[in-house]
Amino acid sequence: MNPALETLALAFREHGDPAAPLIFLGAEPHLDLISATAWQPLKPLADQCTAAGMTMTDEPQGKHPTVLFLPGKSKEEILAGFARAHDLLAPGGILITSLANTAGAARFEKELSKAAPLLFSVSKNKCRAFAVGNTQPWDASALAAWRELSEPRLIPGTDFTVVPGVFSADHIDPGSALLAQYLPPALRGEVADLGAGWGFLSHVALGKCPRVTRIDLFEADSRALACARKNVTGPAEFHWHDVTAGLPGKYDHILTNPPFHTGQSRDIGLGQAFLTTAAKSLKRGGSLHLVANRQLPYEAHLESLGLRPRLLAETGGFKVITAV
Ligand SMILES: C[S@@+](CC[C@H](N)C(=O)[O-])C[C@H]1O[C@@H](n2cnc3c(N)ncnc32)[C@H](O)[C@@H]1O
Repeated sequence: MNPALETLALAFREHGDPAAPLIFLGAEPHLDLISATAWQPLKPLADQCTAAGMTMTDEPQGKHPTVLFLPGKSKEEILAGFARAHDLLAPGGILITSLANTAGAARFEKELSKAAPLLFSVSKNKCRAFAVGNTQPWDASALAAWRELSEPRLIPGTDFTVVPGVFSADHIDPGSALLAQYLPPALRGEVADLGAGWGFLSHVALGKCPRVTRIDLFEADSRALACARKNVTGPAEFHWHDVTAGLPGKYDHILTNPPFHTGQSRDIGLGQAFLTTAAKSLKRGGSLHLVANRQLPYEAHLESLGLRPRLLAETGGFKVITAV
């Protein structure tokens, strides 16, 4: 269980109104918060919320007496989230948010108090939940600065659109850039991009490999996928999808820069699950093209899946592997 979620639920039990309608941004399932209308951009967590019986929304709207906010990791995403939470608050409503101490809970509590006076703070599980109300207008300049952070912007020097909170939101990932260099122009037919992010690899593949007839982008983060829709033009389809659950079709080629973190913690099993899905989803004679941090032990896993990995490049802390 996520300790920040536990602390949020504790603060809600102690100070919240269980009878009032509740909206939960960054939702994760919790018995005490099951009645909330939930927004969660990450597909595996959204699926867990649905399975727990929460009502999901793609686009939170309206005004609510209670807004709960369980933020992601990036500073910009957290501050933009404060502004978004404000815009969903009914007059007299209350916003409760929770962060791990190591994620800067004290710092963000101070930030939020620049906009509105703190109502309470609860410390537990090495996390802190804190709350502000909506009885008086929030500080307009703090709100304006936070709102600006939520605006889509271009990666400097490129035409790629990104938003805060998505993977590699201010630069092209150097691992993906290396894989792009090594993508064979002869790739053809149907291609899948696993963990496609805001679409960099698919964009390159469609530009560099004229015989590709379709590329399917599979990505867990709906915010990144929305950016990919802008960044990738041509024969592409976009799937909000948990890659570890398998793919709906088979492909001539699969591209991936697999994730190896879940939340804040390192999770090599996640990257390996991506490779397992890839192995199951390649057509006979198809090929996998992957980049990974040099120290990640993917070759043995690929061999155990019946693929034959070949190292194409190893530089700058990354390795590019192809496997048939
Ligand atoms: C290392 S990033 C690569 C992103 C993109 N390909 C690029 O080159 O910028 C891995 C991506 O996998 C996504 N991801 C993580 N877990 C996932 C899952 N279970 N299913 C689908 N995508 C996932 C992340 O949101 C992230 O965008």
